[in-house]
Amino acid sequence: MKPINVGLLGLGTVGGGTLTVLRRNAEEITRRAGREIRVLRAAVRNLDKAKALAGDLPLTTNSFDVVDDPDIDIVVELIGGLEPARELVMQAINNGKHVVTANKHLVAKHGNEIFAAAQAKGVMVAFEAAVAGGIPIIKALREGLTANRIEWLAGIINGTSNFILTEMRDKGAAFGDVLKEAQRLGYAEADPTFDIEGIDAAHKLTILSAIAFGIPMQFDRAYTEGISKLTREDVQYAEELGYRIKLLGIARRAENGIELRVHPTLIPERRLIANVDGAMNAVLVKGDAVGPTLYYGAGAGAEPTASAVVADLVDVTRLHTADPHHRVPHLAFQPDQLADTPILPMDEVRTAYYLRLRAFDRPGVLADITRILADSNISIDAMVQKEPAEGEEQVSIILLTHITVEKNINAAIAKIEALDTVAGKVMRIRLEELAAR
Ligand code: HSE
Repeated sequence: MKPINVGLLGLGTVGGGTLTVLRRNAEEITRRAGREIRVLRAAVRNLDKAKALAGDLPLTTNSFDVVDDPDIDIVVELIGGLEPARELVMQAINNGKHVVTANKHLVAKHGNEIFAAAQAKGVMVAFEAAVAGGIPIIKALREGLTANRIEWLAGIINGTSNFILTEMRDKGAAFGDVLKEAQRLGYAEADPTFDIEGIDAAHKLTILSAIAFGIPMQFDRAYTEGISKLTREDVQYAEELGYRIKLLGIARRAENGIELRVHPTLIPERRLIANVDGAMNAVLVKGDAVGPTLYYGAGAGAEPTASAVVADLVDVTRLHTADPHHRVPHLAFQPDQLADTPILPMDEVRTAYYLRLRAFDRPGVLADITRILADSNISIDAMVQKEPAEGEEQVSIILLTHITVEKNINAAIAKIEALDTVAGKVMRIRLEELAAR
């Protein structure tokens, strides 16, 4: 059978890794795909930089040379960002080409428009590499777990944040210091906002939620809170209480809608996912039939991400000849079967909480705080009061609550902060047991 022809947009870390893996494993990949997957040409920003890696692969600096090339069957978009990636992907689709992309930002923001265009044109858009790098989580949700009603999923889906939290715990270091180290090691971008403020994780969670629940991509409705305000004290107190703090992306089917939220979360240290350290990723999925399943691996890096890109290339190659109506749907559910289940406002989310506050060590302070919680119908699970440091008048009080509604805790926090005996703001971190039931 004649080869299927691929055009690469971008030959950076992931593009380079993709080329390397395709070349190194060419024979096995052909045996799996049923025909050779041949890279015909690549568009790059800097010809000189790309030459050594490209070898005899023809290069261009004009990405439209690739998306408009009539000989190319599959365009692989690895340039990232919204524009010109969106324009190039749409043009490739309009030209009748299949697309493989690792671009989580693009899929989370413009996925609905892109999949509609692909559906109309009868082409495929595959995006395994957009979520959790090399972990085949899209494939697991879309195909392996297709018998299940997915109840919830919770993922460590930003390696940079997980690296920072791990270092804060292991070394007792402050957030700012570890961030600098992460930048030095090349984990965090020079502008690390997307990683540390939970935006990158929210892109990935948006994609996972669409596939898990059969809903359109709704990035703008995701609640997003990053790790930049966490202190080493919180990490340490959580540890003392038997919990680890992780930046989790959580999507949960609730009674009246779907919770879609990214925030730092206390999780019991005995859970496997609590022990996912460094820059690694993991996604825990709870299906009604299978129960909890856990997927773990490298969430970034040249070859781990290339592993997902090449898997998509093989999938697209295998399905290329299948009638578009009988292919695996982009978002797991048939396009006319997407549900309009609402994403819940954050006020309606139900979870437990870790609260840390500074109070003057005087009679009645604890009574005032516990009364406020009781009046808001919030039940306390655990409480610790730390001795004041030498010469200090204030003590740290740490409370764990049972599950409540976010709006109740917000109201209680406002009342606690208004007490004369409480200093400053209450630190609030959400807590999830992530139990099988
Ligand atoms: N910036 C991402 C992370 C890399 O830290 O996980 C891949 O999406």
